Amino acid sequence: MCTKKVMEGNPVRGRINSWLLAILDGYMHLLYGKRKRNLFRKLPKTVVEIGSGSGANMRYLPKGTHLIAIEPNKYMHSRLHKKAKRNQVNIQILPNSAEAMQIDSNSVDAVVSSLTLCTIPDENKALQEIERILKPGGRFIFVEHVGARKGSLLLKLQKLVFRPWFWFFEGCHTHKNIGETLRQSNFSEVNIENFMFYSPFVPITTQISGYAIK
Ligand SMILES: C[S@@+](CC[C@H](N)C(=O)[O-])C[C@H]1O[C@@H](n2cnc3c(N)ncnc32)[C@H](O)[C@@H]1O
Repeated sequence: MCTKKVMEGNPVRGRINSWLLAILDGYMHLLYGKRKRNLFRKLPKTVVEIGSGSGANMRYLPKGTHLIAIEPNKYMHSRLHKKAKRNQVNIQILPNSAEAMQIDSNSVDAVVSSLTLCTIPDENKALQEIERILKPGGRFIFVEHVGARKGSLLLKLQKLVFRPWFWFFEGCHTHKNIGETLRQSNFSEVNIENFMFYSPFVPITTQISGYAIK
């Protein structure tokens, strides 16, 4: 499933998803702005971001940040370059997967992710990689959508729409238990806040945000 071809993006859906992320940028900022500003404050000069998409998080980075963007979907790349220029971010795109980052061990202070662990086929491996590249004491900062509570109507809905959602959004899983995966990971400290993301995108309304320390 996780072949290089799949990760590079589908010629039709890849372009549509890149465009969708771009047109939803302002709306997402309206919903996430305060939370993300708070989470992404005091970031170091160099930041690694997994699954940067079309660059939703660049507006929260200080000008002059060196952003290493791990983005395998090539249909996102031109928007990422444009967004970086507009936000005065110095971007370096690595077209690999977060499960196999070509970055030295113990070399970065911060890794960020928003709405990406849902799409990564092996999120356990990705978390191991994040932990590997972080320096001791380094932080992984995240905002992710997750599966709803067991037995809830929302979880039933997430399961119902799973297949078409996964197909259209190129691998986006509606109901992963990312909070639990994070708690089981090797980070020395994990801080998670559960929240509801009130939007018409009902399957992704159950979310978590927080940080994990190596
Ligand atoms: C829903 S988008 C989120 C984009 C952006 N972070 C945002 O908040 O708008 C998920 C992103 O993860 C990327 N992605 C998919 N598989 C990946 C992998 N194995 N490693 C890293 N990124 C991946 C996709 O190409 C896509 O850009």
